[in-house]
Amino acid sequence: MPFDTAIAALNYDEHAFAQKHSAKELVEMLPNDNFVSFVDIGAGTGFATVEVKKRFPSAEVTLIDSSSKMLQIAKAKVPDATIINTDAEIFDFASLHFDLAIANLSVQWFKNFELFLEKILAHAKYFAFSVPLKSSFADYMDIFKDVDIPRMNLYTQNEVLHIIRSSAEIVTAKQLMIAKTYPNAIEACRHFRNIGATIPINTATQSKIAVILKSHKSPITLRYDLFLCVTR
Ligand SMILES: C[S@@+](CC[C@H](N)C(=O)[O-])C[C@H]1O[C@@H](n2cnc3c(N)ncnc32)[C@H](O)[C@@H]1O
Repeated sequence: MPFDTAIAALNYDEHAFAQKHSAKELVEMLPNDNFVSFVDIGAGTGFATVEVKKRFPSAEVTLIDSSSKMLQIAKAKVPDATIINTDAEIFDFASLHFDLAIANLSVQWFKNFELFLEKILAHAKYFAFSVPLKSSFADYMDIFKDVDIPRMNLYTQNEVLHIIRSSAEIVTAKQLMIAKTYPNAIEACRHFRNIGATIPINTATQSKIAVILKSHKSPITLRYDLFLCVTR
């Protein structure tokens, strides 16, 4: 499932309310270590980067993202950061020096999170991340229950815990629920478009979805059920 950065880069900061909130909470969970350098993975427009910089102002920063458009916006916020425009799942982290890695709401886009976790912890002292859980957006997804669309591959909390325990130790973890109500289904759908979360679907399915969206005129709440975790 691709992350559509052409749209997201323009609108992301204004619309990504859950990502912004999650970044703040995740950084508060970090231990009081004397971090010399950190890497923000799937840094996007730098919400988490800015929060880590506030807590550890002298730490050197590296931003990794597969979208050059998102990185351009992040670079303006953190001008001294080193920018690496690449796919984090294939990047060789041995070429970097860092003691903290952070990934705020980005690893849900990865093909193999389990493998990535193992890889990143071979290089970082701590890895802090947040992910949406499978129960997220239930009310919204329910309106499309009769349409055969690709679903995001999200985990339950138990599944995330199982993955972590196979290669890491949990330092601290918590669940966080962030919700926002939109006046109708079309506005809720726009939220996902504005933050780049889109699903590639064929024209026939697009038409079915358009009909459902237009017919669903009552307010709808988008609920992000997040799992935040610091591992080592
Ligand atoms: C929802 S945004 C989150 C951005 C940011 N961490 C934040 O807190 O707002 C997800 C970001 O992950 C990036 N991304 C997705 N898959 C990636 C991959 N395999 N390697 C690097 N970046 C990736 C996207 O380009 C996007 O900028």
